[in-house]
Order: sequence, then structure tokens, then C-alpha cells
Amino acid sequence: MHDQLQHDVLIIGSGAAGLSLALKLADIATVAVLSKDSLIESATLYAQGGVSAVLDERDSIDSHVEDTLIAGAGLCDEDVVRHVVEQAQESINWLVDQGVDFTRVDNQSDPNSPFHLHQEGGHSHRRIIHAADATGREIETTLEQRVITHPNIELFEHHIAVDLIKQNIGKPSSQRCIGAYVLDLETKAVHVFCAKNTVLATGGAGKAYLYTSNPDACTGDGIAMAYRAGCRIANMEFIQFHPTCLYHPQAKSFLISEALRGEGAKLILGNGERFMHRYDAREELAPRDIVARAIDSEMKRLGEDCVYLDITHQPQSFIDAHFPTISAKCKEFGIDISRSPIPVVPAAHYTCGGIMIDIEGQTDVPGLYAIGEASCSGLHGANRMASNSLLECVVYAHAAYDSIRQSLAAVNLPSDIRAWDESRVTDSDEEVVVSHNWDEIRRFMWDYVGIVRTTKRLQRAQHRIRLLKSEITEYYGNFRISKDLVELRNLAVVAELIINSALKRRESRGLHFSADYPVAHVSKQAKNTILQIDQQKNGHVAA
Ligand code: FAD
Ligand code: SIN
Repeated sequence: MHDQLQHDVLIIGSGAAGLSLALKLADIATVAVLSKDSLIESATLYAQGGVSAVLDERDSIDSHVEDTLIAGAGLCDEDVVRHVVEQAQESINWLVDQGVDFTRVDNQSDPNSPFHLHQEGGHSHRRIIHAADATGREIETTLEQRVITHPNIELFEHHIAVDLIKQNIGKPSSQRCIGAYVLDLETKAVHVFCAKNTVLATGGAGKAYLYTSNPDACTGDGIAMAYRAGCRIANMEFIQFHPTCLYHPQAKSFLISEALRGEGAKLILGNGERFMHRYDAREELAPRDIVARAIDSEMKRLGEDCVYLDITHQPQSFIDAHFPTISAKCKEFGIDISRSPIPVVPAAHYTCGGIMIDIEGQTDVPGLYAIGEASCSGLHGANRMASNSLLECVVYAHAAYDSIRQSLAAVNLPSDIRAWDESRVTDSDEEVVVSHNWDEIRRFMWDYVGIVRTTKRLQRAQHRIRLLKSEITEYYGNFRISKDLVELRNLAVVAELIINSALKRRESRGLHFSADYPVAHVSKQAKNTILQIDQQKNGHVAA
């Protein structure tokens, strides 16, 4: 491969956001799509519940907007919420046109049969369109089939973006993002991927925590790269913990969808007693932050390792039709969900904050867009409502497409981009530093920056992350890069952003709960927490 490759658009990430954008752009531009794993490996692949959209005539846009605003606890941007909710029907039509086969009420092969809709926490209507309990797999593999055959899309699997490239171009000259340095994980060479527009579709950062529903790819790379490039990063304290991940020593990151609670599943303690009524009138269908905190509090009160989710009231035929993936996975671990309750625990699930973008998906850096979970669009506020995320991926893919379409011709790329410099590094002789620091970050983030926080624990975490970051920076400067090192460096940045944002928020709101400030500020207008690198001091400043 040449050291320098050129495309109209570089899309970093191949989940729902990245692949949707690639397909929309491919008829008007040359597109490179990077994935640091195989093409389909992403959070999208594991999404279960579905995509929220107003598709039932008894439902309304106003109701979807209102539910989203309530879950977002005063921090959603109402214009953004309305825009996304209004685009939902069109986004679903686009997915159906690509070939996504959503579950229908009567007969799967009858196009006149209406789509079956699930209900999830925070939604006041059934509005979750789904493909049984493997919606993400259906979307991701359908989009995969479309991108692999498109002549204008070049796919680079097992390629990890390391850092963005910014250079002065144009008249008057201004700093623009013109691509990224990318490590080919097979050849170990670092290439320059040069593009008129670069899009971060890199997903979230669940791997900052010891227990997470996220796959290994979710190390917050895009958020860290954008932060280093000078973008504002917002609301990183709002990490969503999904209430129900399977609790079993051999089950790595397996989610038990909220849709089970939508179909009447109840949370119970080891002795069979229900508890959600003691926390919220909506019981099992309260928003996630409330359910996760209730479970955490019950586990701590009783010293138990898990609680249980009971769907045994539903017949086997219903479970086979609606939850075949979950039922099969639980069977692998000896749990028959039609007969016995499922052991569950909360786990880090979704990064509500991220790279600040406008309604077109543009970041603060010209030529750089961010879409999907890596971004902070204003849709989720302090707490994302279930199934609003896949919707956001498709809506913002379309918004970015519209914006990029209008600017493509006007950009002239420079020919003098600096190649990656490896002249002062050697091969590492201490890989243990990388694996040790990975484990250490994930553990203290879980213990000190979890579901319930205190200032003292956050300060402890801040102290540790500062030490680790300086060690990692030194290591990064001395040794040849590897995937683990690139991810660790990013994970450390993201962990620090989460900790610093949490320390700045002196109240409890949405997903951020502090035992020292247990209530929300009512007298003041709720504000986003914004962090931006100080290019001179190389530290954090509030915008
Ligand atoms: P992802 O799908 O995570 O894709 C990120 C891509 O970026 C990957 O291809 C990865 O390889 C690539 N990448 C990352 N860093 C780099 C780098 N440095 N270089 C190159 N490539 C890179 N949401 C819903 O709305 N409904 C649901 O039912 C639902 N269920 C979920 C269930 C689970 C188990 C999980 C984990 C999440 C669920 N979510 C759900 C959330 C939703 O799936 C994600 O928010 C969404 O899929 C994110 O899509 P994305 O395209 O932004 O990122
Ligand atoms: C789930 O199926 O419970 C996950 C839905 C989501 O995260 O939006």
C-alpha cells in the first residue's frame, strides 16, 4: 500500500453510523471506511431492543419528544430532539429500502403486515421497531452487504486511526482536518489517509469500565482524537449503566434487553420479592438510571452479587418468537428463561456525552464531522432513552451527508502532508505496562466513578488517572505503537474526561448521581459540562 491514500471522505468506524453515511455518500464521492476490527464488529452488531420511531397511529411525535426530554433530565436540546424524532419514519424507510427485515405483527413475508413494536423504559407508547432481539445484527449485516459491493467505497478492515491530521489550507489559510494517521494492524505500517472531509463514527467508551455491555472496540478513540485535535467534548459524566446484563462468570458482556421488561418481566431479589415499586411509580419501566440505581442499592443493601429478571409468565412460544437470541445464550449457561429467573447486574452501556456537534454533524474543527455514539448532539441530555441511539446514527448520517455534499468541490488538499515519524522509537520490551494500565483504569473507573459517586472517590480517581496518563504518554513517546497502546492512550484520555466532568457537576442529574450533591439544581438553568484542551497549557479548560 502507498504511504499516502486520498479519498473525498474518510469515515473512521463501520457501525450503523459509519456504514449509513458511506452508503449515502458513495454515489457522489469516493469513500474510505476504516474499521479497527472486522467490518461488522461494533456496538451496533450487538444491539438488541431496536430503533425508536413513531409508527403507531395512537402514538405522536410530541409524545416521543416529551419522553426523550423527560429522560434527558433538563439537558436535551429540544430543537435537536424534535428534528431527530421527526426524521425517524424516513430513517426507518431508508433502512427498509436497504433490505433490513424488521419483525412484522402477523406474517414476516407479508409487506402489508404492520411492524411489531416493542415498549421500553421511559417510552409512553410501543414505538420500538425491531428484528426479534437481534436488531443490530440485522441492520449491520444488511448494510455490510450493500457497502462491500459498492464501487466507490473502499473498505479497510483491521486499520486503526491513531490521530487526526490538521493543516493550514485555503485562502485565507485556516486549520482544517485533512485526514488521519492510520496503523495497518497486519503490516504494522502507519499510513496517511488524506481526505477533504473526515468523519468520526467510532462509537462509545464502555471499555473504560470493568463491567460493560460493550464489545472490545468501544475504547472512545474518536472522542480522544477529537479532544487532542481541539474539539469541545461535552457531558462525559453521563455514562449510562444498563440495568440488566447477564450475571454469570463465563458470560462476557451479554445484555438482557429492556424489551423483556416491556413484555412484563419483573425484577426480583433472591427471595422472589419485587422491589421496583419502592423506587419509582413506573416500576420496571422507569428510565434506566432509576432502575440501575435501584438494583445497585438493593445489591449493596443485601450484599448480593446480582438480582433476577423474571419472564416466566410468558409461554415458551412467545419467548421463542420474541427473544430467541437471549433465550439461546442463557441456555448455553444452563438457564431456561421460560422456567427460571435470569441473574442480572448493571454494566456500563452507553456514552451520552462526546464530541460536540451541530445539527449537521460538524465539530469545532473545519473538515471534521462526528456522528453516532462518539458525538454529543444534544439528543440525549443527561440520560439517553432506550433505542434512541440507532435512530440518531441514521439521522445524523443523513445530516452529515447533506452537509458534506455541499462542500466537497471547494476543498483542495495539500500535497505536503508530513509522513508518520518512527525515527525515535523502538520496539517495546515492557508490554506488561500496557496490559497492567488497561486493567487498572477499568477497575478504578468501576469502583470510583460508577453508578453512585462521591467527591472523595472521584478525587482518588483523578489522582490515579493523572499518574497513569503521564506514564502512558512517556511510553507512547518511546515505543513503536500497537493496537493495545493506541487504545490505552485513548482510554486514559476518556477516563480523565469522565472524571473531570463528574467533578465539575456539583449536583445529581440524570445518569450522574453524587452522594455529596444528591439533588439537581432547581434554581439554575441546567448546563452542559464542556471540556476543551488548552493547546498552550495542554490541560483542561471549561468553555
Ligand atoms: P459502533 O457501532 O460502536 O461502531 C464503531 C466503529 O468504529 C467500529 O467499526 C469500530 O471498529 C470503529 N472504530 C473505533 N475506533 C476506531 C479507530 N481508532 N480506528 C478505526 N476504527 C475505529 N441502541 C439502540 O438504539 N437500540 C438498541 O436496541 C441498542 N441495544 C444495544 C445493545 C448493546 C449490547 C449495546 C452495546 C448497545 C446497544 N445500543 C442500542 C446502543 C447502540 O448499539 C450504539 O450506540 C450504536 O450502535 C453506536 O453506533 P456507532 O455507529 O456510533 O458505533
Ligand atoms: C436494550 O435492548 O435493552 C438496549 C436498548 C438500548 O440500549 O437502546
